[in-house]
Amino acid sequence: MAERILTGIKPTGQLTLGNYIGVLKNLKKETERGECFYFIADLHALTLPIEPEVLRQNSIDLACFYLAAGIDTKKANLFLQSSVSAHAELNAIMQNYLYMGELSRMTQFKDKSSKMKESAIGLGLFAYPVLMASDIILYDANIVPVGEDQVQHVELTRDLVNRFNNRYGEVLTLPKYEMRKVGARIMSLSDPSKKMSKSDPKGDIFLKDDLTTIRKKIMSAVTDSGSEVKYDVENKPGISNLLTIYAALKEISIEDAEKEFVNSRYGDFKKAVADVVCNELGAFQEKYRQILESKEYEKVLLEGAARAREVANSTLKRVKKAVGLLNLE
Ligand code: TYM
Repeated sequence: MAERILTGIKPTGQLTLGNYIGVLKNLKKETERGECFYFIADLHALTLPIEPEVLRQNSIDLACFYLAAGIDTKKANLFLQSSVSAHAELNAIMQNYLYMGELSRMTQFKDKSSKMKESAIGLGLFAYPVLMASDIILYDANIVPVGEDQVQHVELTRDLVNRFNNRYGEVLTLPKYEMRKVGARIMSLSDPSKKMSKSDPKGDIFLKDDLTTIRKKIMSAVTDSGSEVKYDVENKPGISNLLTIYAALKEISIEDAEKEFVNSRYGDFKKAVADVVCNELGAFQEKYRQILESKEYEKVLLEGAARAREVANSTLKRVKKAVGLLNLE
């Protein structure tokens, strides 16, 4: 059976090399396995304060990034989450099948809310995984490519699907996450104990950074004591992270990457990593600029949303029927 693949990216902050390696880079290949639904999670972006103009610009950027990753839009539907109203409708139904206890145990919620005053934590941030589960369920997706930090949310979606199907019969498709073997968690260059994230300008490589800045960031990445280029996350987290970046971009194993640098010093190794990153992101940025200028993303998003609506509305109908909502059409 052909697979149904779905993933989303939030248009908040600037996209990083972590997002690129964790998911974007692989999305082109996924289209060979079945129909793909890739979307801009703009409703999710509202769960933390964001300026309207920034959200608009980020959404356009993200559409261009998806396309610059080379996805074939005949096989992958690219759309804005907010263009398909079924996401919000299914969310309204599904929020009754996930519970406060399990939502409050989500690591992402704990991380984000721990930095905020309780009175400033929006309900949307707390209920974030309900909307994400709805995103996945609507397309009968069986495969969800994500980085490691989103695995918990996909697992919760599985719990929800099982719970729902136990109660109403086999209505929903059970999804599973897929992570890249190498690169599912790219770490910060300035603090390799932390994930590279959109909100950490020092340790991040942003996809829109110019190549000189990227090179500088890599050359000044935190390394470890010793001088051997070896993969050892515990004792050499900085070098291990750079090896992961190198291996993921060259699509080789960590062991093969290690072999290339057995006799290298840290400086030469970093230079090789910088070359690979600049090579790949240089070409990617060039495509991004062409797509942004041509505005071809507008037509792609409209067509993608039309197909997405078809599939999503049919799932929504099935769910409404299952729970006892009247479909009077
Ligand atoms: P977001 O926008 O935070 O990240 C997009 C994707 O990038 C992955 N990622 C990373 N991978 C490797 N190393 C890193 N340092 C790194 N940082 C981020 C994330 O795991 C993610 O796959 N909740 C999602 C968006 C979403 C979604 C969905 C995803 C909404 N609905 C349905 C899948 C299915 C998010 O905020 O991703």
